[in-house]
Amino acid sequence: MKILVIGAGGREHALVWKIAQSPRVRELYCAPGNPGIETLAKIVPIAVDEIEKLLAFAKEKRIDLTVVGPELPLSLGIVDRFEAEGLRIFGPHRAAAQIETSKVFSKTLMQKYQIPTADAEVVTLERAYEMLPHLPMPIVLKVEGLAAGKGVVIARDQKEAKEGLDGFRAMGEAAGRIILERFLEGVEATFFVITDGEKALPLASAQDHKRVFDEDRGPNTGGMGAISPTPRITPKLELMIMERIIHPTLRGLAVEGTPYRGVLYAGLMLTSSGPHVLEFNARWGDPETQAVLPRLKSDWVDVMEAALDHRLDQTRLEWREESSVCVVLASEGYPGTYRKGEVISGLDQIDLPDTFVFHAGTGRQGEAWVTQGGRVLGVTALGQSVAEARRRAYQAVERISFRGMHYRRDIGASAV
Ligand code: AMP
Ligand code: GLY
Repeated sequence: MKILVIGAGGREHALVWKIAQSPRVRELYCAPGNPGIETLAKIVPIAVDEIEKLLAFAKEKRIDLTVVGPELPLSLGIVDRFEAEGLRIFGPHRAAAQIETSKVFSKTLMQKYQIPTADAEVVTLERAYEMLPHLPMPIVLKVEGLAAGKGVVIARDQKEAKEGLDGFRAMGEAAGRIILERFLEGVEATFFVITDGEKALPLASAQDHKRVFDEDRGPNTGGMGAISPTPRITPKLELMIMERIIHPTLRGLAVEGTPYRGVLYAGLMLTSSGPHVLEFNARWGDPETQAVLPRLKSDWVDVMEAALDHRLDQTRLEWREESSVCVVLASEGYPGTYRKGEVISGLDQIDLPDTFVFHAGTGRQGEAWVTQGGRVLGVTALGQSVAEARRRAYQAVERISFRGMHYRRDIGASAV
């Protein structure tokens, strides 16, 4: 088979790494990829939002299967476009991807199909200002039209809530409707499934670490590290998540005429009254994927094909018994403005068993590796327990260095 993976981050490095292990793959391409991916796939210099160019490339090379990493091409309808031209592509259609790209779409769907989520009201900005004095604090304010995380304000009091709304107003045209949402208390966890729109196979649980500093301090990031599985999602809880959240969501999407096919990411708050959905994503997570895929024994190409061909009921996934921990190494300044071009040393010294270094934001300068992004590398290790996986991941991390490098030292600590 010839396979094209779309994306450029650590998630895509993990996907390419996993797909490259399939004996069925003859040629593997990644657009636009990154230098860490080069040894596994041919790099194609086309950006993720250049849908027509990606399509022309896939036709020219007679790609058998295209795999989409990030949400941007999904939101631009890459799946619809490829299928209209008779090409096979793994991911949700544009309409179904709204479960991630539109906060109003997903909240309305959850309300209509009684999927446990925080109580919320969708209002205009003017109405939000009027309602504010009557709302309980803390409150969560979300605005339609912005990427996950950035369009969310958790306000502890009236003053912070007003400042949050002022911030949304300053966005002008970019700001859509406002979601006023009850603040949920609990522990966050991620749950992944693969689905053909009807059948869904649970993949794995994970826990992201979104804040930049230890003990969940500092601003939100794309994710500073992840563990998989998370011991907080027990087999019993997994059944509950499938029954109360995943199946009703997929049924709802199908009834609405937007059946979902692909990997679905459920961002959950585990509360004292059960799991509630904070958000859905229409894709794998980053860096959760770098923690999950090293645990998967099954051939991921077979599994994606089973979803495309509605054979998931005949598919059994095999997983390694070990736990995994992924630690993200970030550039000085991240998640704000960060430096680039720092020389990375130690990458050739990671010759440890069951330890994987996934590149997210690296570049080459002659023979040297240099930093090129905010999140630079993701170092994953497997271990018999979370504690052992942590020890092993940090052992590898200590061999790598670049000026200004920072990382969290407590990835997985609360799961030990
Ligand atoms: P979202 O993009 O909707 O996942 O929100 C980003 C982050 O805000 C989540 O990962 C949570 O940490 C937090 N968050 C969102 N909604 C709520 C809520 N209703 N209650 C508490 N925290 C929330
Ligand atoms: N790590 C969070 C995400 O991928 O959305």
